[in-house]
Amino acid sequence: MKLTSILFLLVAISLLSFDQAFDLKASMERGKSIYEAQCITCHMAEGEGIPGVFPPLAKAEYLADKNRLVKVVLQGVRGEMNINGTDYNGEMTGFSLSDQETADVLNYICNTWGNKAATIKPADIQPALKAASKNYQPY
Ligand code: HEC
Repeated sequence: MKLTSILFLLVAISLLSFDQAFDLKASMERGKSIYEAQCITCHMAEGEGIPGVFPPLAKAEYLADKNRLVKVVLQGVRGEMNINGTDYNGEMTGFSLSDQETADVLNYICNTWGNKAATIKPADIQPALKAASKNYQPY
């Protein structure tokens, strides 16, 4: 009886610590649903955007700046930008997403369509909002 409870405890602890290790695949799965609900209408199914109107997210060079990405999603963005050789001068409103949802949608776009960028964790979101980003204009 005692042994079973100890075993049960061990299994529970190992499950718990597994949960705490960041699971990128699960985050991307959740992020895909957020993308499909909130971003796909402008940035399109393959992240290709609409040239000159909505910039692509696929193979876009700005994905390297993680702090900027967080701000773009939560605070929106406006102003001139050149993405992969095409000029944009539109605006995008910010979205109300939790830290976890923000990390999830960014992990999806940063690791899909041939993109390979850093993993973003929920704990990175608030510090990213405070960090400086070059040429960034919120909505
Ligand atoms: C209504 C259309 C629309 C929707 C919906 C939309 N965007 Fe955008 N997005 C834009 C436009 C327009 C720009 C370019 C703004 C500019 O030219 O200043 C942009 C720019 C971006 C950029 C690049 C900005 C930069 O400065 O590096 C990222 C990243 C981005 N969007 C991500 C997202 C994500 C993630 C979502 C969903 C949560 C989303 N967008 C939803 C229209 C949209």
